[in-house]
Amino acid sequence: MMSSDETDDVLPRDEEMLKTKKDKYKVIALLGKGGYGAVYSVLRQSDSEKFAIKCEKAAAAKKVLLMDCNVMKGATQIKSRHFCTVLDRANVKDRFNFIVMKLIGKNLWDLRQDRPDGRFSLGTALKTAAQCLVSIEHLHSFGYLHRDIKPGNFAAGRTESNEHHTIFMLDFGLCREFVKRAEGKDMRAPRATAPFRGTTRYAPLAAMLQQDQSRKDDIESWLYMVVEWTSGGLPWRKLKASDRDKVLVYKNEVRSKPDIQDDFFYNCPKKEFGRILKYIDTLGYYAVPDYKFIYYCVQHAATANKIKDNEPIDWDPDRPYFGPIECPGDGKVIDLDVEGGASTKDFSKRNAKEKEQKEKEKDQSDETRKGKKKNVTASPNKEKTEIKDVKK
Ligand SMILES: Nc1ncnc2c1ncn2[C@@H]1O[C@H](COP(=O)(O)OP(=O)(O)O)[C@@H](O)[C@H]1O
Ligand SMILES: [Mg+2]
Repeated sequence: MMSSDETDDVLPRDEEMLKTKKDKYKVIALLGKGGYGAVYSVLRQSDSEKFAIKCEKAAAAKKVLLMDCNVMKGATQIKSRHFCTVLDRANVKDRFNFIVMKLIGKNLWDLRQDRPDGRFSLGTALKTAAQCLVSIEHLHSFGYLHRDIKPGNFAAGRTESNEHHTIFMLDFGLCREFVKRAEGKDMRAPRATAPFRGTTRYAPLAAMLQQDQSRKDDIESWLYMVVEWTSGGLPWRKLKASDRDKVLVYKNEVRSKPDIQDDFFYNCPKKEFGRILKYIDTLGYYAVPDYKFIYYCVQHAATANKIKDNEPIDWDPDRPYFGPIECPGDGKVIDLDVEGGASTKDFSKRNAKEKEQKEKEKDQSDETRKGKKKNVTASPNKEKTEIKDVKK
């Protein structure tokens, strides 16, 4: 198998012109890179507007773009302001497939790294936490789990478009539908075991125990992310993805050992965050999380700490906060028209070459693992859910 670096020459080159049926786009800069491909900023030639493109190598083992496309379509349908819209798509033969979407700003990992003390102010952490929680409820409301909630998968909008106080959710490559749409929106039954998906540092207990994930698990990852913003680092930050067992021990001890919990909640509103953690732990696979309750815990932490609604956020210190202040919905799941996304069957086709490539995949440090197979006891057929070609 070739490493991703060796196959990167298929990806767009600087200033390359990409054509679709609708328009032409000039590649400006690389914004992010993963095993499947990369994200770039581009200039639309018809009107000189900037956009982002996400490219997936034609030969990539994991096809993520169809899921990205379907999820963003769902978000457009519910008119959520926390998602980018897909405006165009095409493929460059034998090289890559790409989608064109709204260009947004820095992700929340990078924004935290910009802080001199390596953490967000409490006001910023809580405002951002509330927006991310709303975006998670939106995603769940049209039937998807994210399964890779982490700071690198949320970003602020662009200053140029005056959207830099709005948080956007990104990266739907690991999403999974939790409802059976054809059968009256019942929830899919959990599989006996499920291969690990996601990122060790933020993974919920269920994922670490190779259990199927559900709505509460996205919220659990959200809490780890929010605690990291406020405290400046999780107790298990020095452990690698390969130390998943040790990270699991830590996450259990956060629940059972008061000194570890104190360390975990360092610099955090302990009462409110502790309440959220306790609440998440009461939820089972089929539970509809009470998003509003969690939201009110976050709001309570803000009032208890005298944080004003218009207190500036860290990346725009000179202006009052003007981001959305909205409460999440009640978790009701709506109907959706998506392409190829409604059945697991569509995501279960994978050719032998892709399978072989997957088998040989190397361990990644604390990166997302998309479809990595390790210690899996369930029938492999049941696990092939993330792979699908983009429609030409
Ligand atoms: N629409 C976008 N506008 C600006 N930056 C983006 C956009 N989409 C992704 N990015 C950047 O690229 C990074 C990787 O994109 P993502 O969709 O998370 O793919 P992956 O993590 O699978 O490589 C993100 O963390 C973000 O910084
Ligand atoms: Mg990502």
